[in-house]
Amino acid sequence: MCGIYGCCQRAKAAKSALCGLEKLEYRGYDSAGIAFLEGEKIEIIKSVGKVSNLKIKVGEKVSNIAIAHTRWATHGRATALNCHPHTSENFIIVHNGIIENFKELKSNISEKFYSETDSEVIAKLLEKNFDELSEISDINERILNSILKTQNQLIGSWAVILICRKNPLKIYAFKNKSPLIVARGKGENHVASDINAFEKREKNLLKYYNLNNRNIAEISQENIIFYDEKLNKIEIKEIKKQCEICQENCNYKHKMLKEINEIPKAIYSTKKHIKNSDFKKLSKKLKNYSKITIVGCGTAYHAGLYGKFILEKYLNKNVSVELASEFRYKTQIKEKNELVLAISQSGETADTLAAIEIARKNGAETAAITNVCGSSITRICDYVLQTRAGAEVAVAATKSYVCQILALYMLASSASGKRISRGIDKIANKTILSFSLENLKEFLGVKKFFFVGRLCDSATASEGALKLKEIAYVHSEGYSAGELKHGTLSLVDENSLVIAIITQSNILDKTLNAVHEVKARGAKVLIVSQFELAGEGKEILLPAAKEEIMPLISVIPLQLFAYHYSENNGLNPDMPRNLAKSVTVE
Ligand code: G6P
Repeated sequence: MCGIYGCCQRAKAAKSALCGLEKLEYRGYDSAGIAFLEGEKIEIIKSVGKVSNLKIKVGEKVSNIAIAHTRWATHGRATALNCHPHTSENFIIVHNGIIENFKELKSNISEKFYSETDSEVIAKLLEKNFDELSEISDINERILNSILKTQNQLIGSWAVILICRKNPLKIYAFKNKSPLIVARGKGENHVASDINAFEKREKNLLKYYNLNNRNIAEISQENIIFYDEKLNKIEIKEIKKQCEICQENCNYKHKMLKEINEIPKAIYSTKKHIKNSDFKKLSKKLKNYSKITIVGCGTAYHAGLYGKFILEKYLNKNVSVELASEFRYKTQIKEKNELVLAISQSGETADTLAAIEIARKNGAETAAITNVCGSSITRICDYVLQTRAGAEVAVAATKSYVCQILALYMLASSASGKRISRGIDKIANKTILSFSLENLKEFLGVKKFFFVGRLCDSATASEGALKLKEIAYVHSEGYSAGELKHGTLSLVDENSLVIAIITQSNILDKTLNAVHEVKARGAKVLIVSQFELAGEGKEILLPAAKEEIMPLISVIPLQLFAYHYSENNGLNPDMPRNLAKSVTVE
C-alpha cells in the first residue's frame, strides 16, 4: 500500500513526481524516495519520514523523467536502505505490493543485495533477465522482454515503475493485482498507483487508463504504448475521472476534519447519483437471492453490519456479514443463487478483492459498493454501486462510511418498495453544527473507552471505537450492549468512559440497562441519542430522523470526538502511526 508515481515531462518531472507523492502520502508515510534524470545522470534521493523531508532534500530540480515512492513498510524497517527506489546496475524501480517468492528468487541471483525489502529482488531480477536477453539488439525490445520474463517469475502483487539506464528517456510500468493508472497529457505523461495522485494536474491531463494485470506501459513525454502479457500492442479503454471534491485542507486544520464536514455534500451527491442501472437491476433481484453475504474490512465491515440490519429488516431475509480476510480462507459452502456484496471505499483492499474472486469461483453473483470509480473491484463485480463521497484522503474513513450506509439503506429501501427518507444531508449538517467540544473536554484525557449499542447501534459502537483506536491510540472497545455483562464488564471501572449509542426505540430500555450497570461500577457515561436522556448521563443530543437512518447521523459526533481527542493529544489524525488508507497487501 505504498504510493508510486512516475512521469515524463519537460523540465518538471521531479517536481510533478513529488507533488504526486504528496497526494499519495495517505498510502504510507514512513519513508520516501525519488529517482530523476538530471542532465545525463540519474539522481536518487531517499529520506526517512514524510514526503516533506524528501522535498527539502530534493529542492528545485530540472528533470524530464522521474519515478518516486512513499513507503508503508512491509518487509524491513523504515530506514534509508530499505527506502525505494531500489536499484541494480541498470534498473531503478519503485514498487507497491508484496513479492511472495522473493526469498526463493534471491537465492538464484548472484548480485549482492543491500536492503531487507522484497522489492529489491525486482530490480535484480530485471538485471539478470536483461543480461540473459543480450541477443536482442533493440534496447527498447530488450527492456520489454526483460519485464515480461520478470513478471513471469514473480509471485504476489506488484505495481512497478522503472527507469533503465540504457534508455533513460522512457519509463516503464507493469502490474499484477496492485493498482496502476496511466494519465495521458499534452507533451507529458504520468503513471501512479492512484488516480487521486493526479489531482493538481487535472487541467493538463486529458485521459486516464487503468492497466490490467500483467499489462506493460511504455511511457515517454510524447507517447504511451500498452502491451499485453505477450507483448502484443493493445488499446486500453479510457476511464473517467470523477469530479473530486478538492483535496486541499481548505480552511481546516486537518483533512479528516474537512472530510467530516463534507458529509452533507457527500450524502447529497451519493443520493443523487447512486441509482444507476446496476443499482436498479440489483435492487430488483435482491429479494430473490437465496443467500446474501456482505464482506469488507475495517470501517467497510462495520458498514456491512449495518447492511445486515437494514436488509434483514426491510427484506425479511437472512444476511451474513464476514470479514473479507476471514471469508477468503473459511470453508466455502457453495449455494445456488447467492450474492456476495463487497464494501470497499478504495476498491483496492487486497482481502476484499480476494473474497470477491473466491465468490466468483463459487458461482455467486457479486456486487460492490465503492467510492472509487474505475477501481479494481469495479472491474470484477457484476454490479457496481458507486458512492460519491469524493476523494477521501485521511486514513480514518469518515464520509465514505456514511455514504456506504446510505447506499445500503437506499438499496434495501428500493428492493422493498419503501420510500427513501428526505433531507438526510440537512440532518447530517445539523449534527455537525451542533457538535460542541466544550461539553466533552473532561473526556479528552480518558484512557479506557467502551462504546455500546444494540442492533444497528452496535455497528456504530464498533465504528466509534475503531476511530479512537486508529487516530488517538487509546484502548477502546465497541460492543453490543447486551454482551457487556458476559465478560467486558469486569474491565469497567471509574477510569472508564462508556459511550452508549441509543437510536432505536424498541431497545432503548435494554441499552439503558447496560448504562445503569456501568454507572453502578463507577464509570463515566456519555449518551449519543435523539431521545432526551440527559438524566442518565452526559448526552450528545442528535436531531431526530427516521430510526433506520440514525446510524448515518450518530456516527458523526463519534468521528468528531476521535478527531479532537487525537488533535488535543498532539497527534496527527490524518496520518496515524502504522496504518495506511488503502491496504493493497494481505
Ligand atoms: C484500512 C483503512 C481503513 C479502511 C479499511 C478498508 O484498514 O485504514 O480505514 O476501513 O482499510 O478499506 P476499504 O478501502 O476497503 O474500505
